[in-house]
Amino acid sequence: MIQDSPGATPPEPAGFAQRGGHDAYEHEEDDGATGVLRDVGEPDDADDAEATRRTVDVAESSRASRGWWDRNADEYQSEHGAFLGDDRFVWGPEGLDEADAALLGPATALAGARVLEIGCGAAQCSRWLAGRGARPVALDLSHRQLQHALRIDDGRPGFPLVQADAGTLPFADGSFDLACSAYGGVPFVADSARVMREVHRVLRSGGRWVFSVTHPVRWAFPDEPGPEGLTVSASYFDRTPYVEQDEAGRAVYVEHHRTLGDRVREIAAAGFRLADLVEPEWPHWNSQEWGGWSPLRGALIPGTAVFVCVRD
Ligand SMILES: C[S@@+](CC[C@H](N)C(=O)[O-])C[C@H]1O[C@@H](n2cnc3c(N)ncnc32)[C@H](O)[C@@H]1O
Repeated sequence: MIQDSPGATPPEPAGFAQRGGHDAYEHEEDDGATGVLRDVGEPDDADDAEATRRTVDVAESSRASRGWWDRNADEYQSEHGAFLGDDRFVWGPEGLDEADAALLGPATALAGARVLEIGCGAAQCSRWLAGRGARPVALDLSHRQLQHALRIDDGRPGFPLVQADAGTLPFADGSFDLACSAYGGVPFVADSARVMREVHRVLRSGGRWVFSVTHPVRWAFPDEPGPEGLTVSASYFDRTPYVEQDEAGRAVYVEHHRTLGDRVREIAAAGFRLADLVEPEWPHWNSQEWGGWSPLRGALIPGTAVFVCVRD
């Protein structure tokens, strides 16, 4: 079951892009722009996409993200599905596992908890939560990503799948005990302060909101896994979004940057208390590269920031 929320754009036919992997960062050397999460092949209709840094509003960001993830969900899941696991909860490419980190609280306390997962992809995290007795709701903007959730569950997910935008959550106030997001939504929205307010609204008092994003410092470096990714090439303080646009100038892929300070201010302004900021270190067992994340860079600079927020 995929519930299409009133706030979401009506679903279109799902894309079935099956593209061979090639260097998705081929544009970056030209202008130093960085697309830190975009590590699968080019979308079908954007082979000639031009990478740039420019402002993008809420609507254009949402449209670009939905189109890109619909076109690229197949390749994302085929490339990263094994690492993500069907019912594992990892916070990022380092492999920090919620089973060990317990950032949402002790696993034993998850039983019965109402949990909202934002930007769930194929809902691997929600499936892990359901296995601990929680009652997750898995939300994503991309219809094709949610179809992968259905595929994993043979069409019978044990929890609701909702297609909606993180900036307009189709739930009543205080509906959830916990909210989480592993690289889902927050890096892709133009107005992340609005997402913080929305999550605050749908959480009950005492609820917890834990989300991971690319560590902001990565925006100062080229998104390359090798040594070339270790030399500062852009200003950390430049908040101009990373955009790939088609020949008509329409954004087909967008990522938004906030400094650490920006994130802390957005969290506090929404009414949350920041209880922890986790910067996972690269573990010895992890030898895999994921786009610009690699053992080499992971040993030297943080790649992921996980914000643990409490709605007091
Ligand atoms: C990097 S993937 C992460 C998915 C999953 N959490 C994982 O770890 O594989 C980002 C996900 O965020 C979703 N997304 C992007 N923008 C969104 C938005 N505005 N609202 C909700 N989901 C969004 C994408 O469709 C995609 O599934």
